[in-house]
Amino acid sequence: MKIGVISGDGIGPEVVREAKKVLDASASKNGYSIDYTEILMGGCSIDRYGVPLTDEAINAAKASDAVLMGSIGGNTSTSPWYKLPPDKRPEAGLLGIRKALNLFANLRPSVLYDELKSACPLSEKTAQKGFDLIIVRELTGGLYFGTRYTEEKDGVTTAVDTLTYSEEEIRRCAVKAFEIASKRRKKVTSVDKANVLDSSRLWRKVTEEVARDYPDVKLSHMLVDNAAMQLVKDPSQFDVVFTENMFGDILSDEAAEITGSIGMLSSASLNETKFGLYEPSGGSAPDIAGQNIANPIATILSAAMMLRFSFDRDREASDIENAVKMVLKEGYRTTDIMSEGMKRVNTDEMGTLIAERL
Ligand code: IPM
Ligand code: MG
Repeated sequence: MKIGVISGDGIGPEVVREAKKVLDASASKNGYSIDYTEILMGGCSIDRYGVPLTDEAINAAKASDAVLMGSIGGNTSTSPWYKLPPDKRPEAGLLGIRKALNLFANLRPSVLYDELKSACPLSEKTAQKGFDLIIVRELTGGLYFGTRYTEEKDGVTTAVDTLTYSEEEIRRCAVKAFEIASKRRKKVTSVDKANVLDSSRLWRKVTEEVARDYPDVKLSHMLVDNAAMQLVKDPSQFDVVFTENMFGDILSDEAAEITGSIGMLSSASLNETKFGLYEPSGGSAPDIAGQNIANPIATILSAAMMLRFSFDRDREASDIENAVKMVLKEGYRTTDIMSEGMKRVNTDEMGTLIAERL
């Protein structure tokens, strides 16, 4: 396996180190080998090359079978990276690599673990029901990549962003959502704002067309404002939530927060091939960087997703997921998910415990 590694900024290098530890344990147990290539992106690339993403980095990613990423970016009010123009900041590197590698489908699971139910900020009744949903967010279209400009006319400044979707952009991502749903609980909730937006009306139409190819998957539509409400009211109603870029950005943070443990959530960004970019849902957490206290589980679970989606190693992926559950059951917790009576461990200890359970 040729794996590109973007350790990135903040806690990125610490959590990636643990994910590699677990991958290496899986590789030696199951008789496969991994060749890692370090790729600079984000703030560390700015420090070295003056830009968050170089052509060399893009080419190195393209030459890999998959990319494992930590996180990028720093403190937006104190880091010098944020004195740079927007297209030179760390986040521009992330948007750039998504576009350059055509990573149009972003999978963001949100799972409430039995062991962590007490961290769930929802009502106890809702938490007891549990939930296990996945957001499939379109990642290379919509407002993020539409025409954008600011102009001044007759002394009045106007800023414009455009939300554009072609039926092809919607269709290819819808196919991913239905494929995933057919391997889960066979339910797609397509989220849009079809009572206002043209792009949403097209979204609905194309999604319904795709649904005809998946007769065993149930499709329903939900307006995005209602979806935001339903996520806190009863997240157990969702299986696969399929939505456009901006709505998905917002709803996926909400879906992460209701688990009470964002340090546990993985994600994958996929294109039409087996290639994928895998990263934890959380950010670079500059405030706790370098202290060996970050939770590496989200990155470890992202590595498991990588084995599943890019290498068809379902069993090895499940082994890692089970090892994580085992360690939680045994009572080990990093600081972010610590509760009374549990055993507090550091970033590297958590990685070692999970690797050992394999
Ligand atoms: C995310 C992030 C990015 C996004 C930012 C950093 C550009 O919020 O991955 O959700 O908006 O897509
Ligand atoms: Mg976001």
